[in-house]
Amino acid sequence: MSIVINTKRTINKIKNMKNKEKITMITAYDTLFAKLFDNHIDMILVGDSLSMSFGGDEDTLGIDLDQMIYHTNAVCKGAKNSLIILDMPYGSYIDEKTALSNAIKVYKNTPAHAIKIEGGEEKSHIIKNLTQNGIAVMAHIGLLPQNVRGEGGYKVKGKNEDEAQQLLKDAIAVQKAGAFCVVIEGVKSEIATLITKKLDIPTIGIGAGVGTDGQVLVWSDAFGFFEDFQPKFVKRYLNGAQLIKEALQTYVKEVKEGSFPDEKHSYN
Ligand code: KIV
Repeated sequence: MSIVINTKRTINKIKNMKNKEKITMITAYDTLFAKLFDNHIDMILVGDSLSMSFGGDEDTLGIDLDQMIYHTNAVCKGAKNSLIILDMPYGSYIDEKTALSNAIKVYKNTPAHAIKIEGGEEKSHIIKNLTQNGIAVMAHIGLLPQNVRGEGGYKVKGKNEDEAQQLLKDAIAVQKAGAFCVVIEGVKSEIATLITKKLDIPTIGIGAGVGTDGQVLVWSDAFGFFEDFQPKFVKRYLNGAQLIKEALQTYVKEVKEGSFPDEKHSYN
């Protein structure tokens, strides 16, 4: 069965999907893939993961706001129905003033519908200031990739009672601050499920088990283009790297042996 979405996704539509229909989100960084994903997916996240999967960086910390704006504009050109979210890069929302001026820069320079920021209770005053100024915010709690250097690695959250309690506080704080939706990353399944039941806004899981309202994956992980490692939570829906390698081999072989270009692909 092919799932086709031919109506525009809005913030309200996404909010109203809670408890009715699972919400789908995938990352994209360019027009080409946004065009392929639009009409099938509820939301497209222009994730700062682009610095790793496209930029070849070790983590997401190096990318800046202008680069995120460039890629978001490319995605927006390809996507007509999906809700587009720009992931605010590290350092771009360190305090209320900086966050608001950078979020305004995003709205002035891209047609993105929303921004995403990492952090829970400690960032809730920043989210509140943004939402009170008309910015749609997707929150992101649990494992925060932008904290990877500070925490010395990627650590699954919710492993003890204190962490579980903090996650619940984070979720409630970002909802109260006006976030329309919250990504829960790298959190034990039962905690993410509990949070999902407690919140009125939708939860979007990544490495957060089976009980969230929706799911997000990084496209290059989901379609097997990133081969270096495969986290436990990633399911590969395509062996993309293998398919490209096989096609490339055929192209190289045909050029080398002189069978491409042939008459059919020439202007005669
Ligand atoms: O940058 C990203 O792709 C993300 C997702 C993993 C949620 O933040």
